[in-house]
Amino acid sequence: MTTTLSRQATPFILTIFGATGDLTRRLILPAIYNLAVDGRLPEKFAIIGSALPEMTDEQFQAFLTEAIEKFCTVEFDRGFWTEKLAPSFHYSGGNFGDPELFKNLSERSEALEEKIGDSCLRLFYFAVAPNHFATLSDQIAAAGLHKSSSSDARVIIEKPFGYDLNSATELNRQLLKVWQENQLYRIDHYLGKETVQNLLVFRFANGIFEPIWNRNFIDHVQITVAETVGVEGREKYYDRSGAVRDMMQNHLLQLMAYVGMEVPNSFDADPVRDKKSELLEAIRDIPAARLGEFAVRGQYGEGYIGGQKVAGYRHEPDVNPDSSTETYVAIKLWVDNWRWSGVPFYLRTGKRLLKREAEIVIVFKHAPEVVFRTTPVDALSPNRLIFNIQPEQTIELDFLAKEPGPVMQIQKANMAFDYHNQFKASRGTGYERLLRDFMLGDLTLFSRSDLIEEAWRVVQPLLSGWESKAERIPIYEAGSSGPAEADELLSRDGREWFGIE
Ligand code: BG6
Repeated sequence: MTTTLSRQATPFILTIFGATGDLTRRLILPAIYNLAVDGRLPEKFAIIGSALPEMTDEQFQAFLTEAIEKFCTVEFDRGFWTEKLAPSFHYSGGNFGDPELFKNLSERSEALEEKIGDSCLRLFYFAVAPNHFATLSDQIAAAGLHKSSSSDARVIIEKPFGYDLNSATELNRQLLKVWQENQLYRIDHYLGKETVQNLLVFRFANGIFEPIWNRNFIDHVQITVAETVGVEGREKYYDRSGAVRDMMQNHLLQLMAYVGMEVPNSFDADPVRDKKSELLEAIRDIPAARLGEFAVRGQYGEGYIGGQKVAGYRHEPDVNPDSSTETYVAIKLWVDNWRWSGVPFYLRTGKRLLKREAEIVIVFKHAPEVVFRTTPVDALSPNRLIFNIQPEQTIELDFLAKEPGPVMQIQKANMAFDYHNQFKASRGTGYERLLRDFMLGDLTLFSRSDLIEEAWRVVQPLLSGWESKAERIPIYEAGSSGPAEADELLSRDGREWFGIE
């Protein structure tokens, strides 16, 4: 039996700002294509691309054809694209500071709406650098492009949402001048990943796990997002950001919120977001004076990835040769609430590591060893529940079993569930679900302003502490498992990382 919610999107006009950028080409467009192929777009819609270059609709469609051929995650059907989908793409170029562009966009939207013949939702996608967010909002409002009532318009805002706590608060303030909170879809693509969404089903739809999901049974939690890629042409952005802003503040803390949140009353947007927010609020401040006990940073030096020699971060083009930007961060967090009191959460992420792997490991408390006291076994290893998010999409349970034979030999064994074998799910970009929820007006997987600000509050001591410190950043070898200091973060507590080693 399957339990599904069938939902129907209404006609829309989606304006994508940043339509010639990397994000549009690599992710947004392929996701729209996948939705179209799966018949998940409404019958009537139009998309207007907007960016600085001037182009005709036809030139824009040709530009997109090239992108989609390159980045499409399913087999490209040229006939379908050219005849069915491409004609829905339009283009209006110009400077985001120029009111004329927004007047043009307004006229084009009205003309398209007339052609569509139905009243259309006005959807906007800010696929641009964050310094444009406030300008775009103000210009849209001044041109009346967002119509008047909140049910008529929505906007997706890409990360990074702010640069630190103050700037995020200010950005929220600026956006909320124009939009209501329920029109703002702050996107985190990790929440589009099936295995992340499955965490909630795993926890709350299976009666056997929730009773043990707490301090009485869980020793600690590890969350790892390891990448083998470096900064890949995004050096200018990355050198100002670093791993805390680029990954920890958003993706990893979102994962932690899913692991740790209380049970919501329903899966509607606000009950879920309320519980996530409560979890983040309960994270204890990292004490600035004892930063080293709670956080480790690192930067990759040269090394080998997949047998290929790669340059150290400071030798990447456009990176300051003295840069102290972190490409790796590991932190230990305490959650001061009833469920998690005394259970540390260890989070780490880094670039140019040994493997690409994102996983959540729930490490359970040891079983009492008394019955094995006369048996020659090493210390019993704890049970672990492992959620592999990528590249594999599996859930595994590590347990101990007796090795066959006359003596009592204990071995680690494993039960595994593979998402793809089970469901034959297709590999999308992760943006499909989020875009469709956006079209349908479902905010559950998007961040609210309080969630964003809480996540900045959690990482702010790292940002402030490391900015003001003259001490050298630890360098780790590309292709390794990160700086040795990250291992010490756990070994001091008598624990060790599980996963990428
Ligand atoms: C992005 C970061 O948000 O996530 C990138 O800006 C990072 O630096 C990427 O590489 C990782 O996403 P994924 O889905 O490949 O794990």
